[in-house]
Amino acid sequence: MTTNPFVKSSIEKSVQDLPALPNVVTRILKETEDPESCTQTIERMIGTEPALASKVLRVVNSAYYGLSGQVTSLGQAIVILGLQQIRNLVLSVSAFGTLKAKTPNQIDTMEQFWLHSFGTAAATQIISTKKGLTLDECESACVGGLLHDIGRLFLFANFGQTYTQVIRHAEQKKLEMEVVEKRLLGLTHSEVGRQMAIHWKLPKTLVHLIGGHEGPFSPEVVDPLLFTLHVADWLTKGLYFGTDEIPTKTPPAVVMDWLNFSPEQLDWLETEVEAKVDEARQLYGLMAA
Ligand SMILES: [Fe+2]
Ligand SMILES: [Fe+2]
Repeated sequence: MTTNPFVKSSIEKSVQDLPALPNVVTRILKETEDPESCTQTIERMIGTEPALASKVLRVVNSAYYGLSGQVTSLGQAIVILGLQQIRNLVLSVSAFGTLKAKTPNQIDTMEQFWLHSFGTAAATQIISTKKGLTLDECESACVGGLLHDIGRLFLFANFGQTYTQVIRHAEQKKLEMEVVEKRLLGLTHSEVGRQMAIHWKLPKTLVHLIGGHEGPFSPEVVDPLLFTLHVADWLTKGLYFGTDEIPTKTPPAVVMDWLNFSPEQLDWLETEVEAKVDEARQLYGLMAA
């Protein structure tokens, strides 16, 4: 199997054709980054998007939070969920929503994608706190965790047949996904993601995280944010593709040295992340409904 030169340019063209992210997303991203931001402003922004507002209320009234039917106002919902959780929901609903699943196969993939993204976001929070990153950095890592694989989602949603071939090829040849993507598509999902992030005018840090999350990493440069995301992603990669035939590379020495976790700490991290993925599974059921 060889690269079809038209594949790369048609992927890049369809990224450019993606609709803009709803305004509310960009504004909420800015607002939640601001330590002074207040509940009322966020409430007003979400209030302008009825579909979003009703999803937020549905989530907060779910069994997941044990408050069934008690929360009727957005303001209350924001206080209960917290700004960070609200931001994560708004971002996922909007960014993932532009890439709709069409076939049953894609619907399955969508769930795996959601779990992997929420699992990665949760893992970034645990790692960044343990490593003493600033609150701002923890937040960026978390949003990066949520959105890092949008390029993959885009490929699934828009080039489904081709991407399935990439997966099968990786499985048969026991090659890493990124190697096969480069070979068959001409670019990797992280490069697609970087182009999407630029197209969507996401903050520079996010462009850097999404575009760089799979490496390669220079042995001389320590990048705590990117390393946090890389480890978090690695821990939840098993959630993809429903197969263990596709190899995943252990993070390189520069990343693991920076992390400096004992085998016991790594085990603990894995257990914590698994619990978060279980929570995300319940949340997905609610959001997809
Ligand atoms: Fe990735
Ligand atoms: Fe990932």
